[in-house]
Amino acid sequence: MSVRSIGVTVIGLVLGSGWLAGCEGQNEGPIVPPPPAPAEYVDKHMPVKWWGDVEKLEEGRKLYDGEANPDVNCAKCHGKDGKPVKAGATDFRNRERMELYSDSVWFWRIAEGVPNTRMKGWKSKLSEEDIWRLVLFERSFALKGKAWDAGQRQWVAMDAVAVTAGDGR
Ligand code: HEC
Repeated sequence: MSVRSIGVTVIGLVLGSGWLAGCEGQNEGPIVPPPPAPAEYVDKHMPVKWWGDVEKLEEGRKLYDGEANPDVNCAKCHGKDGKPVKAGATDFRNRERMELYSDSVWFWRIAEGVPNTRMKGWKSKLSEEDIWRLVLFERSFALKGKAWDAGQRQWVAMDAVAVTAGDGR
C-alpha cells in the first residue's frame, strides 16, 4: 500500500466513524426530562407490592412481546431486548434517560401516547393493570431491581421502597 493510499484510508476511517457516531446521536436525541404528567395521571402509582412481583413482570413481558394480545406489540418498535428496531422509538436501555420518568409519567405515556409521533395511546386496548404490567417490564431494561419512590421522587433500590409501600404511595 502506498503512503498516499494509507493516508486516504485513515481519513476515510476517521470520517466514517464520525458519521456513524453522528447518526447514533441523532437517533437517541438529547436527553431532556419528559413533561410532567397531567393532573389526572399525577397520582397514579404502581400498585403496592408489584415492584418485586415476578409473575406480573412476566405478564408484562408477554404483553410487550405481543404474546398475550396480538393487537399489542411494543417489541415491534422498541425491540424485544429494549433496543429499538424502529427509528425514533425510545431506547429503554438508556438508564440516564429512563431515570427521568416517574411511574406516573411512564403510565401516562403508554395510556395516551406521544402526540405527533408513532407512539400512539394504548388505553383503549389495555386495562390500567396491564399498563402497570408494561411499566414494570419496560423498567427492567435499565432500572432492574429499582422502584419509583413517589415520596423521594426518584428510583430507589426495591428493598428501600418496600419499607414505605404500606402508606399507599
Ligand atoms: C409503531 C411503533 C411503536 C409501537 C408499536 C410502540 N411504540 Fe412506544 N414509542 C414509539 C416511538 C416512535 C416513541 C418515541 C416518541 C417520541 O418521539 O417521544 C415511543 C415512546 C415510548 C415511550 C416513552 C414516551 C416518552 O415520553 O418519551 C414509552 C414509555 C413507550 N413508547 C411505551 C410503549 C409501549 C408500552 C408499547 C406497547 C404497548 C409501545 N410503546 C409501542 C413507537 C412505538
